[in-house]
Amino acid sequence: MIVVTGGSGKLGRVVVKHLMDKGYEVTSVDLAPPPGQHNPPRPGDVRFARADVTDFGEAMAAFSMIDERVEKVTGIVHLAAIAAPGLAANHVTFATNTISTYNVFEAARQLGIRNVVWASSETVYGVPYPKGPAYLPVDEDIQRPETAYSLSKMLGEEMAKQFARWEPKMKIVGLRFSNVQEPHDYARFPEFDRDPKSRHFNLWTYIDARDGAEAVRLALESKLKGAHVFGIANADSVMSRTNDEIVDKVFPKTKRKRPLKENESLISIERARKELGYRPKHAWRKQVEALKGKAERG
Ligand SMILES: NC(=O)c1ccc[n+]([C@@H]2O[C@H](COP(=O)([O-])OP(=O)(O)OC[C@H]3O[C@@H](n4cnc5c(N)ncnc54)[C@H](O)[C@@H]3O)[C@@H](O)[C@H]2O)c1
Repeated sequence: MIVVTGGSGKLGRVVVKHLMDKGYEVTSVDLAPPPGQHNPPRPGDVRFARADVTDFGEAMAAFSMIDERVEKVTGIVHLAAIAAPGLAANHVTFATNTISTYNVFEAARQLGIRNVVWASSETVYGVPYPKGPAYLPVDEDIQRPETAYSLSKMLGEEMAKQFARWEPKMKIVGLRFSNVQEPHDYARFPEFDRDPKSRHFNLWTYIDARDGAEAVRLALESKLKGAHVFGIANADSVMSRTNDEIVDKVFPKTKRKRPLKENESLISIERARKELGYRPKHAWRKQVEALKGKAERG
């Protein structure tokens, strides 16, 4: 059984579906039920338990014995959070995200659950960028939180290292997701090209929720041990203008570690490619072309 915290959220819904489609038994643990849930549940409904993971007792219960439906938990995907800067007062975001991440790691450790995958964030690279990063493409060596939200994610990465040291058999994989997108979000993408500053805040990157879900599964299935962090974005940028053009215009002083490919993601996904076998498939251009073709066929 895999428990997904935040399974009713934008990314969580897609992660839960992906894992179920791949044959995993999944329980979503969230403050809110999954959309379209029936009472009593019907076949095909997502298994769901309401729990507040900022409460340690609730987290322990959610991962051990909600009721007879929850068999032995073998892995946890921790996505529950206040999911962006500015959605709550800074201290509330900080407290919610750091305490929930601590509770998830500590409950996993006490319960002998050794497989934990959790959502860190692109903000740990320094997003949003008023002036640009130290170098491009950005990689996992960078920790430069600029907000209380980002600080909570960076501290999650630090906590993971210490938990993995205390419990060397644990695997704790943090995925630094780019900005999560669903297919209906792509209709507005072609407009971004008009203004290089339209999406410079996160280096013109994105992550399709389906590719994000695949990254979660690959991380769950990987044989790694210890604490790891991976940048997770799609392979292409949201722009059709080349990276050289937009970087020259918007971040002219930023150093390039190597020549930039025309439209590659400026959040490096090399480590995830090498160590997890991550290969994003849902490039936005393909989706927009498919939508156009559909509209033309009437
Ligand atoms: N959306 C993005 O662009 C993005 C980018 C990078 C990282 N992330 C991270 O990915 C994860 C998922 O993001 P999302 O966009 O799906 O967020 P979301 O806000 O859509 O979903 C978060 C879910 O967590 C649940 N939740 C919040 N607090 C909880 C608590 N105390 N106990 C139990 N459940 C709780 C909410 O009810 C919600 O269903 C988050 O950790 C977020 O920080 C998101």
